[in-house]
Amino acid sequence: MTNAQRELIEALEQDQSLAEPHRLRQRVEALDRLEACFPDEPDADASALARRARAIRTRLEAVNHGLCQVIRREIRLGAGRSALLPWRPVSDQGGHTPGPANGEGYDYLDELVAGVLQFEPSDEAVAELAAEMVFYQPTPARHAFDLIERLALERQDVLIDLGSGLGHVPLLAAICTDARCIGIELEVVYVEGARRSAEALNLANVTFIRQDARAADLSSGTVFYLYTPFTGTVLRTVLDALQQEAANREIRICSYGPCTSTLAGERWLQSAQSPENDRIAIFHSRR
Ligand SMILES: C[S@@+](CC[C@H](N)C(=O)[O-])C[C@H]1O[C@@H](n2cnc3c(N)ncnc32)[C@H](O)[C@@H]1O
Repeated sequence: MTNAQRELIEALEQDQSLAEPHRLRQRVEALDRLEACFPDEPDADASALARRARAIRTRLEAVNHGLCQVIRREIRLGAGRSALLPWRPVSDQGGHTPGPANGEGYDYLDELVAGVLQFEPSDEAVAELAAEMVFYQPTPARHAFDLIERLALERQDVLIDLGSGLGHVPLLAAICTDARCIGIELEVVYVEGARRSAEALNLANVTFIRQDARAADLSSGTVFYLYTPFTGTVLRTVLDALQQEAANREIRICSYGPCTSTLAGERWLQSAQSPENDRIAIFHSRR
């Protein structure tokens, strides 16, 4: 055992503030430091210090679990917005959400969202995707909250996430707004996971459809979200379908990741702000 390990254990044992529910970020950071210092391997070190590390981990995880259970209860009662929104990072005056420098990386907010949405692990293998289709990776929670805040969705809005994976964005939008939210996803394992999460949270305004986005009915959507779900000709087909929709009504299209540069080049779309690196871009169809 090194001095650094001993010092970490002593500091965490003394820090009673970590048990306060609102100190989520500090708890997640403490758990990360514990994991780095005491990796939980099968032949876990049985020394007294390693046992103390496990006891701290159990205590901190229990606080996080209790916090998520309280938020889940509020969501089921229809009060999810006030239970969840206070956790999002506060925007500065320019409307920028401060986030870690590591771009698409995940942070304490993702821990909270994982505990709240509580996706059950599935034993089913996911199918291999065809060329030009992008593997699953969830939008980091701070970006999802930033998007929800900037969109200011209203009851008459319909948000469609094209390639919704486990459904983080439609689920969070359904919890935090009155809009109708739809996830379209090719992989059945993700669709079923998202549906179970929505059902357990008693969310009536979110639906998940197992479908190729190229075949989706886009006619009800007012806002579309793409976290680079596909590229090349698949992206082209879906953008052409969205352009057709835009001929009938004004729509907004939000994008994250590499597909943003393709959307920025579409002449039928315009953006109020020039797309920023590492932030979801919001485009409007031209009238
Ligand atoms: C980068 S992930 C984005 C997940 C989700 N939108 C989010 O932000 O959390 C891309 C998702 O698109 C799905 N996908 C890829 N090609 C698709 C297609 N043609 N139709 C529907 N979903 C597709 C993948 O299975 C994957 O779940």
